[in-house]
Amino acid sequence: MNTTTKLYAAPALALLLAACSGSTQPVPPRTPAKVTAKAPAPIPPASPADPAQTVKVVSESPQDPHSYARPQEATVDHLKLDLSVDFQARRLTGRASLRVKNRLGVDHLILDTRGLDVQRVTLDDGKAEAKWTLGTADKFLGQALDVQIAPGTAWVNVDYSTRPEAAALQWLTPAQAGSPSPLLFTQSEAILARTWVPCQDSPGVRMTYEATIRTPPSLMAVMSAENPTKKSADGIYRFRMPNAIPSYLLALAVGDLEFRPLGTNSGVYALPSVVERAAWELADTPKMIAAAEALYGPYKWGRYDILILPASYPYGGMENPRLTFATPTILAGDRSLVSLVAHELAHSWSGNLVTNATWNDFWLNEGFTTYFEGRIMEAVYGRPYFDMLAVLGRQDLAEAFQELGSTSPDTQLYLNLAGRDPDEGTGDVAYEKGALFLRTLEASVGREKFDRFLRTYFDTFAFQSMDSARFVQYLKQNLLGGDEAQAKNLQIDAWVYSPGLPTNAIEPHSEAFVPVDQAVKSFAGGAPASQISTTGWTTHHWLHFLETLPTPLDRAKMADLDATFHFSDSGNSEILSAWLMKVVQGKYEPAYPALERFLTTVGRRKYLKPIYTELAKTPEGAEMGLRIYEKARPGYHSVSQVTVDQILGWRG
Ligand code: BES
Ligand code: ZN
Repeated sequence: MNTTTKLYAAPALALLLAACSGSTQPVPPRTPAKVTAKAPAPIPPASPADPAQTVKVVSESPQDPHSYARPQEATVDHLKLDLSVDFQARRLTGRASLRVKNRLGVDHLILDTRGLDVQRVTLDDGKAEAKWTLGTADKFLGQALDVQIAPGTAWVNVDYSTRPEAAALQWLTPAQAGSPSPLLFTQSEAILARTWVPCQDSPGVRMTYEATIRTPPSLMAVMSAENPTKKSADGIYRFRMPNAIPSYLLALAVGDLEFRPLGTNSGVYALPSVVERAAWELADTPKMIAAAEALYGPYKWGRYDILILPASYPYGGMENPRLTFATPTILAGDRSLVSLVAHELAHSWSGNLVTNATWNDFWLNEGFTTYFEGRIMEAVYGRPYFDMLAVLGRQDLAEAFQELGSTSPDTQLYLNLAGRDPDEGTGDVAYEKGALFLRTLEASVGREKFDRFLRTYFDTFAFQSMDSARFVQYLKQNLLGGDEAQAKNLQIDAWVYSPGLPTNAIEPHSEAFVPVDQAVKSFAGGAPASQISTTGWTTHHWLHFLETLPTPLDRAKMADLDATFHFSDSGNSEILSAWLMKVVQGKYEPAYPALERFLTTVGRRKYLKPIYTELAKTPEGAEMGLRIYEKARPGYHSVSQVTVDQILGWRG
């Protein structure tokens, strides 16, 4: 049976949170979300084993506007995957078995899916065929898979295949992977897990998982779970993730991978041609783990490994538990871009332990992590290094405000992303305004007290989700001792619920950047590049230099800079991308070949987005952008394709 019925026109309860949209007024803590969705059958009276638990869950989880699932009724608490990886057909095929905790004794389980070919659904031991329907497809949310269950059903088994265009998956040919073998990887955050696993795809739901992955022999499979360090003879790998995680942390990669240890509890996976370089670059990882534990308590996930993927990886990094996925563009050759590891590691507390309840609360993941990242970097590399990162972050925030307009509701920490792709909320505001909020709090109450508060926060809510209203309440109670006057003074509600920047935001300062500021001034004033004293400048000095130069620079100045500092040939992806922004802004044609090389070899969205956006501002730029994109697009992951399609108005 494979009927398509109209289950919902819009995600259930999508409008519940709309009240907070566009508001410039502080929003009081929300009252518990009420379940108002039209259920396929009346909800029977609650008959849970532990009524207290049910009450807790209902009152604590706001409805997620990006999921069809109804975890308040029945929750999936364990997933068993058995998938075969077919590189020829570009499909994963097999079974997802979901263990159901039927809280309210309902007779339907609603799962999120998007673009899955569902063949069959069975219950429990797989002998009983289930009745199921797929709802209307929404572009971002996909389709609800509605499975009829009985109050006593323990397992729902979905037999399915993914499609070649599944958004989470990137299937790389050997040429694209830079390897003799093909390579596959997933990217599930924010709502792409449903494009490769039918699940309750909401960050407010957690499950443990186990998986059997069948690959062509000679390839290795790794997941966000306990991993092999050697290839298996038969291409079959078994995985276990014993800690409950949200679906966006489901991850898989398959390819010709090799492992190198970095310490007793950490290591790196990469292609054989990359793994030595990666191990050298990431050698400080054990120090970062030690620093993080000293700050906010024991690492709770067992091992911490890093997987270096090919350059098409659409993000800098992704905090898949036990195994961070990362772009090779952090391999600068001088260890200068390893703050990315500090960031993904920090997510092992902020995000993976205490998880944003919905994507509207994304800042609870990323703002906390950016703050924590800075603290790790300070502990390992010193205060001046941290100060440089803080100033660069502040600059990024200023640019985000400029782009969005500082009265835009998208400059609030608490977002309203209902009806939108949650990827739209993933700009610098959540990261940098969030981190600045926490730094401002730290400065106000003192580091010791703030650290104690954070440590207790991570402990108290470990393996749970958190939303903005509850955090604000917890903060006022536990950091400020219920002192309303102090909360007002610190403008807590304005930080979270108002656009722009509250007046009490601290202003980061870097002593190391003072000579850089002077250099920018004298160069802008006409001094030649050769007169700038750049001895001792690190990657971050150069980034500050490039980002504060006046825009656009005339052709002679661009030529002088490139002849003197060889930016177009830089092997440092951050410096090169910052330079290429100047190239586009200044229409500096001699560097166009370098621009084209970069855009056709790197798929990291953070770099692509500003460059293509800048190109799209002029007709000639847009034309060049489209010409390059036509070549580059097949090599980008869908996440980057969606972004650039929109920027360039690409219709294929
Ligand atoms: N979790 C994010 C990546 C992400 C965010 C994926 C939203 C999908 C949706 C990750 O931790 C991250 O923030 N990566 C950054 C690097 C970091 C150093 C700022 C990136 O990819 O640039
Ligand atoms: Zn992050």
